[in-house]
Amino acid sequence: WILMATARAPTNIAVIKYWGKRDENLILPINDSISITLDPDHLSATTTVAVSPSFEKDRMWLNGKEIPLSGGRYQNCLRELRSRAGDFEDERRGIQIKKEGWNKLHFHIASYNNFPTAAGLASSAAGFACLVFSLAKLMNVKEELGQLSAIARQGSGSACRSLYGGFVKWTMGNEMSGRDSIAVQLANETHWEDLIIIVAVVSSRQKETSSTSGMRESVETSSLIQHRAKVVVPSRILQMEEAIRNQNFSSFARLTCADSNQFHAVCLDTSPPIFYMNDTSHRIINLVERWNRHEETPQVAYTFDAGPNAVLIAPNRKVASSLLQRLLFYFPPGPDNELHSYVLGDKTI
Ligand code: DP6
Repeated sequence: WILMATARAPTNIAVIKYWGKRDENLILPINDSISITLDPDHLSATTTVAVSPSFEKDRMWLNGKEIPLSGGRYQNCLRELRSRAGDFEDERRGIQIKKEGWNKLHFHIASYNNFPTAAGLASSAAGFACLVFSLAKLMNVKEELGQLSAIARQGSGSACRSLYGGFVKWTMGNEMSGRDSIAVQLANETHWEDLIIIVAVVSSRQKETSSTSGMRESVETSSLIQHRAKVVVPSRILQMEEAIRNQNFSSFARLTCADSNQFHAVCLDTSPPIFYMNDTSHRIINLVERWNRHEETPQVAYTFDAGPNAVLIAPNRKVASSLLQRLLFYFPPGPDNELHSYVLGDKTI
């Protein structure tokens, strides 16, 4: 026999960034973060997990290609799920798996993501959220989403926020076990429906430093990161929660841009410095800053993760389409253009 479960999880974009861990193994952060979960039609992972007594070891395929499953992060997630697995019974097919029985079974995992190829957009958040959710369904794990988020967190920190749609906060928690380091939904996907997200895909020539090693180096060498985690982020989190609650776009945009810039300042304050943004990213920031200065209140927000791609957030479709026109004017399509494509999304799940 074979049992299968399939799930789909979208990626999320942090507007108050997670950068720095206090526990590398459990993936516990040094500050809270807030993100928007994207519409799964644009950037998401779809994962099918299968279990059968005939499987001899765990195996995984990503976009049809087998990849090694040696990582400790996968094992950590699996251990947590196994300890919470439930009994399974299908009388008709004569299948019975007791709680402890899951320890002896192996899984085959096939995951696809619909991220544009060569976009260089991070997919670990969607990937681990999806993996944990589909395995939890398969293994009859009866936990609330919050507890599942604490398991996904052990795959990749940002993955815990992809368990919910809409606006999500990852509370850093205080406990050593990490039990209280979970995602909570601030508002669901129907809240602030007008927001439009544009991902401007900027090609990166050199290989980037991964988030995992980048943030480790920042924690070890940057003095700015402590000030950010202890002083700046706690106050920004409160302001951001209020901006989201009241749909105050001007405050939302100001905080989002400031937090992205401070995260990249921490990267520069790391030794040796980490450069995630490139000239094209800087030109996009300039364009948006100039654009925002024309009006009384900011009209669009930008944010950059561990790479040169720009994520632009507009308050509505009308502003998003004039912004796109402006971008196309400054970065006309062509072989020399580093800004080669756009992915449109909204925040619904
Ligand atoms: C810049 O979640 O990819 O995107 O926990 O080591 O897997 P690990 O790191 P990851 O880091 C994401 C960092 C970020 C900001 C954010 O998403 O909050």
